[in-house]
Amino acid sequence: MSVIAITGAGSGIGAALKHQLQAQGHSVIAIDRANAEVLADLSTPAGRALAVEQTLERCGGVLDGLVCCAGVGVGTSSGGLMVAVNYFGVTQVLDGLLPALAKGQSPSAVVVGSVASVQPGADSSTMVQAMLAGDEQVARADADAAAPHMAYASSKFAVTLHVRRQVETWAEQGVRLNVVAPGAVETPLFQASKDDPVYGESTRKFVAPLGRGSQPDELAAVIVFLLSEQASFMHGSVVFADGGMDARMRPDRF
Ligand SMILES: NC(=O)c1ccc[n+]([C@@H]2O[C@H](COP(=O)([O-])OP(=O)(O)OC[C@H]3O[C@@H](n4cnc5c(N)ncnc54)[C@H](O)[C@@H]3O)[C@@H](O)[C@H]2O)c1
Repeated sequence: MSVIAITGAGSGIGAALKHQLQAQGHSVIAIDRANAEVLADLSTPAGRALAVEQTLERCGGVLDGLVCCAGVGVGTSSGGLMVAVNYFGVTQVLDGLLPALAKGQSPSAVVVGSVASVQPGADSSTMVQAMLAGDEQVARADADAAAPHMAYASSKFAVTLHVRRQVETWAEQGVRLNVVAPGAVETPLFQASKDDPVYGESTRKFVAPLGRGSQPDELAAVIVFLLSEQASFMHGSVVFADGGMDARMRPDRF
């Protein structure tokens, strides 16, 4: 049995993952704003510190797995909030829990990114540079001034790049770290985008070559695999589980 912490375990992909891992006999520490053992708001430095502290208390300083799944989408109140949760709410939890993972059994961590990270322009925005530089104040201000879909895509691009830049550091600690990039997943976050007055129509048209959105369990299964010993040589990978969306959008980039 492994001990695995999941942020965003109260809903959607995170909740499906929690159930799959528990069904396999693993012990899960759920971190979320509600429906979780560790109640913390990952949009603030204090909330992230609390999440790390309480998770360490619960796992006794030794963790076998971590999944950073908590995130907010274009239906949320501001671009700054997306940056705060989707980037800093991931990187600060990864940093805070790496020492505990380094003591774990075949440890592995997974970050939930998005196929939105490959959206043209997301890689070159100034907010990405501010995120990667760790300047939350500037990144939030830039994101508040940007279109919400660019703030979301940039937060997911930056967090993916952050992971890929960590491969040496995490390998030295013996911890694997990968990204899963979902396409459309039928969760409350995706429903909020479909209902959004500005983004609703384009979200509803965002249909992958497979012709449907995925169920949360389909994404959870990919994450379970990446956490497992079956994925023992996967490190620094970005795994698109998107029904073919990335391949359609940029077939010659891989
Ligand atoms: N649903 C999709 O179509 C889709 C597509 C690509 C990527 N994603 C990503 O998948 C991840 C999970 O999303 P989901 O679709 O399951 O959404 P969801 O809304 O069902 O779940 C997200 C969870 O994150 C938690 N969360 C949000 N803000 C938080 C905060 N400040 N502090 C603590 N917890 C917070 C929520 O409470 C919720 O439980 C997100 O990172 C999202 O960006 C989703």
